[in-house]
Amino acid sequence: MTPSDVKATLSFSDGSPQMDLPLYKGTIGPDVIDIRKLYAQTGKFTYDPGFLSTASCNSTITYIDGDKGELLYRGYPIEQLATNCDYLETCYLLLYGELPSPSQKEEFVNRVTNHTMVNEQMQFFLRGFRRDAHPMAVMTGLVGALSAFYHDSTDINNPEHREIAAIRLIAKMPTLVAMAYKYTIGQPYIYPKNDLSYAGNFMRMMFATPCEEYKPNDVLVRAMDRIFTLHADHEQNASTSTVRLCGSSGTNPFAAIAAGVACLWGPAHGGANEACLNMLNDIQQMGGVAKIGEFIKQVKDKNSNVKLMGFGHRVYKNYDPRAKLMRETCHEVLNELGLHDDPLFKLAMELEKIALEDEYFVARKLYPNVDFYSGIVQRAIGIPVPLFTAIFALARTVGWIAQLNEMIGDPEYKIGRPRQLFVGATPRNVTPIAQR
Ligand code: CMC
Repeated sequence: MTPSDVKATLSFSDGSPQMDLPLYKGTIGPDVIDIRKLYAQTGKFTYDPGFLSTASCNSTITYIDGDKGELLYRGYPIEQLATNCDYLETCYLLLYGELPSPSQKEEFVNRVTNHTMVNEQMQFFLRGFRRDAHPMAVMTGLVGALSAFYHDSTDINNPEHREIAAIRLIAKMPTLVAMAYKYTIGQPYIYPKNDLSYAGNFMRMMFATPCEEYKPNDVLVRAMDRIFTLHADHEQNASTSTVRLCGSSGTNPFAAIAAGVACLWGPAHGGANEACLNMLNDIQQMGGVAKIGEFIKQVKDKNSNVKLMGFGHRVYKNYDPRAKLMRETCHEVLNELGLHDDPLFKLAMELEKIALEDEYFVARKLYPNVDFYSGIVQRAIGIPVPLFTAIFALARTVGWIAQLNEMIGDPEYKIGRPRQLFVGATPRNVTPIAQR
């Protein structure tokens, strides 16, 4: 970290001595004030629930400029990565810091491909779930269970273990998501086929049956690959911070990633794509485009608890660049499938137009996020709605691992241990139960 010549000075109105705090400059983005010595020197903590003004780490992986609507992985704009690279190249970039050369790519793809199969015992583990279990409940269990199957890659402090765990997780997530799906519909699991691309293989494991050959459609495979790329990392969001915090205790990588899967499930985070599609379906059932005004009225009513899902973001105060790419993919996929008149897509575009002109959304800088269109794309591809978040988890796994590895490799890394402002009871004596 580069210290700045500028220092922040903290002073108190009660006459307590003031304190100089070092300031660090990032390569881009806001400077940070280093408060690590604050408690030792003043006996005071800072208070920032929801991390509105707190950088929890330094990182070289992903940068977001929320006002500009810019997303960079290792310095490369997401638009360039989504159009020039595939998902596994993006994984390599996130994990190792640079885009691969052709031979590095070939070697990496081979390594990932050779780990796509899961231990055969996993299917018996899966059998313990109810058939109607939510895929994210299943995925939380399956990913955590990997630590019970791969004992040679569970030492988070061993770089070789971390490397093999990374490859295994990236390779096996599509297999696990497809298995979770096949289990819910009662079809046989389809083993990975290693001459297919990462996304093509996933689609085959999802949609093939042993009775017929399945040839993935190139346009749909490209769309799937783009969904993966757009979701690969997003700096210190809730699930990534969960993975870092969980991993900071020294737990194994599979357990830390399982914690990320659990966090991602929530509707304010990864569950938003499912919630968004359900919302579009509800509006469609209410009467479609004609009912948008009524729905927007409910969203604006603070007592209704209704949100426009797929809109708004903690960091983006402009159009989420991923949403633009996803809207483009949506067009491509619907055209390929002859669904250009898809009523939900029309509804989504109309809803977006109306919301972007509405004072409520304009004043709060609420723009569509990636989830606004990703549900429509996935539904068109044939992915069932409850599986959307599991696909997000599959794609985000590489980001979680890259961030976890970065944390463990950081000489300043410590177990994450937030402090609190205690506002409960002061010390008091226990009254024996008979006297209460
Ligand atoms: N619909 C209606 N009002 C909204 C929405 C929305 N989607 N999002 C924010 N607001 C309002 C909110 O009520 C508040 O209004 P007021 O100032 O009058 O109280 C204001 O905008 C600021 O909202 P906030 O809740 O303080 O913002 P936040 O940064 O804490 O929340 C968010 C960010 C993503 C949780 C929120 O925008 C949201 O719940 N959006 C819908 C869910 C969604 O699409 N999530 C996906 C995020 S992108 C994928 C991912 O990274 O996981």
